[in-house]
Amino acid sequence: MGKVAVISVLIAALSVLLGERVLNCSQRLLVFREVTNKHLPNCVALKNIEQGSEDITILGNGLAFISAGLKFPGFPSSDEPGKIYTLDLKGPHLKPVELRMPRNFELESFNPHGISVYTDPSDGTVYLFVVNHPQFESQIEIFKYVEDGASLVHLKTIKHELLHSVNDIVAVGLESFYATNDHYFSNKLLKFLELFVLMPWTNVVYYSPDEVKVVSEGYHFANGINMSPDQRHIYVANIFNHSVNVLEKNEDNTLTPVKSVPVGSLCDNIEVDPETGDLWMGCHINAKKVFFFDPKDPPGSEVIRIQNILSDQPVVTQVYADDGHVIMGSSVASVYGGKLLIGTVTHKALCCDLK
Ligand SMILES: *[C@@H]1O[C@H](CO)[C@@H](O)[C@H](O)[C@H]1NC(C)=O
Ligand SMILES: *[C@@H]1O[C@H](CO)[C@@H](O)[C@H](O)[C@H]1NC(C)=O
Repeated sequence: MGKVAVISVLIAALSVLLGERVLNCSQRLLVFREVTNKHLPNCVALKNIEQGSEDITILGNGLAFISAGLKFPGFPSSDEPGKIYTLDLKGPHLKPVELRMPRNFELESFNPHGISVYTDPSDGTVYLFVVNHPQFESQIEIFKYVEDGASLVHLKTIKHELLHSVNDIVAVGLESFYATNDHYFSNKLLKFLELFVLMPWTNVVYYSPDEVKVVSEGYHFANGINMSPDQRHIYVANIFNHSVNVLEKNEDNTLTPVKSVPVGSLCDNIEVDPETGDLWMGCHINAKKVFFFDPKDPPGSEVIRIQNILSDQPVVTQVYADDGHVIMGSSVASVYGGKLLIGTVTHKALCCDLK
């Protein structure tokens, strides 16, 4: 073969490879996906929440905690610091209450992302764990919730090199938790480029004051994480693999993979109904519309439920879908007493009746 022929073959091979990559990437990001609306009755937007409600978790007594005001690279955001709200789902008004933050806490740069609550079995004290990204760094804040006065007391900031790009956490003790890292790299530019290769490079880390270790890896952008009501299984949203992974929790806090359940959507946070054990997820329909945020062609919202996840035949159901004209970029869904709360990365929060 002549030089020109060799070069042509190389260029052709490279184009095929690149084409394959682009196609693969667009499949991972679901860039062509659209859904038809599937609305629920009596949906109302929660008052005062307009800058996102990225994560929501509900206590057994119907008190929801909401993390609001996330600033995430690539998303539109406000200049206001993040906030934590509570919402009493048993009350008549559905009015979120902004929690008072402690004085000894750096509020200006508060950038709350995933949250988890831990109730001390010995005295019922509620601890709120918050993933915080001041200056886009990653750290975990542990607060004590004080019902009287609706405030938070700051107890601890946890930083560790293995907790370098934390998305979500699930608390398993007073100072211990599992956390997902949604990127492999820590460098800002590499983090951005990583979104275009979407390799299965991200992981789950176990943290306790005595031990910090990677307990599971191989995720395409590990996202939401939560635990079964009997605390024996951990669930991880493998967002760009369009799956939810089930892992068994071992005595030594390591995790053993059990299975991966395909969900056909880009599921973000996972909430678990304490009564039924069902998983509820806020999912993104199409990542292109999320990243190239255009109000004229907005990113939609989708809520997916998984029933009987541990059985041979988990049931995956789309419970709610909207093309973005009602609610944009759903990231979490949580249920209590026949009501469904839907939160978003940077938009509003909705409360709907399930029936
Ligand atoms: C992307 O490519 C890999 C390797 O060629 C393949 O295993 C995977 O199924 C592809 N992913 C999608 C979403 O098409
Ligand atoms: C990714 O999804 C595929 C198809 O659902 C599944 O077979 C595979 O196990 C998943 N990979 C991981 C790491 O979860």
